[in-house]
Amino acid sequence: MTVKDRIIIALDYSKAEEALACANKLQGTASYVKVGMQLYYGAGPTVVGRLKDMGFKVFVDLKVHDIPNTAKGAMKSLAALGVDMVNVHAAGGKEMMMAAREGLEQGAGKGRQPLLIGVTQLTSTTQETMNQQIGITGSIADCVKHYAILAKEAGLDGVVASPLEVPLVKESCGDSFITVTPGIRPAGADVGDQKRITTPEMAFELGSDYIVIGRPVTQAADPAAAMSQIIENSEG
Ligand code: C5P
Repeated sequence: MTVKDRIIIALDYSKAEEALACANKLQGTASYVKVGMQLYYGAGPTVVGRLKDMGFKVFVDLKVHDIPNTAKGAMKSLAALGVDMVNVHAAGGKEMMMAAREGLEQGAGKGRQPLLIGVTQLTSTTQETMNQQIGITGSIADCVKHYAILAKEAGLDGVVASPLEVPLVKESCGDSFITVTPGIRPAGADVGDQKRITTPEMAFELGSDYIVIGRPVTQAADPAAAMSQIIENSEG
């Protein structure tokens, strides 16, 4: 896989037209985009097909977390849209993750298998928030490791985590267990609400399979130039 194919651009817009305009600017420079809650809920599922028609691979990031039967149904519906990657919260437990896998397989049909990824801890979550508000004791690293092992046991393809946790995930689950890492900020970029961050180059050095990057590219005056710069720095 080339560096370009390992960078997923988060199209966090409310309207299909805005997302497609940005995707248009990135055509040729980017190959993978992400449809998150803002765009999916605002524009509806048809935006996925429109991005696929433009030639992009699409990660639908809805972070499903529900009872096993509902998670299974959700994955079945998403698979039918032709998605390339989807995710569920590992906090939903093994039974839910296994049901999600089953639903995804049923919906995708023979010969096509989208990647199913488990969310560990959001990259906006700090140790303090996790301990004092979410109610999970121990370190973020311990929690990420626990969720990654659980996701692997449930048959998932990989996890979403901070690049900082990639070595730990690979150590615990093996090199072929995929890591998808948001919390990416090129040097000098606005950090915003992200907490556990690295630069794109550092994320690749740490072993991330895919990096997810939104605002530093989509909000740039020239998104294609921002993307090209990231590719150049990461290849260098
Ligand atoms: O704009 P920014 O680069 O912060 O975008 C990161 C994207 O990755 C957002 O769409 C966010 O929802 C998503 N994400 C994340 N942390 C996770 C999972 C997904 O930031 N653990």
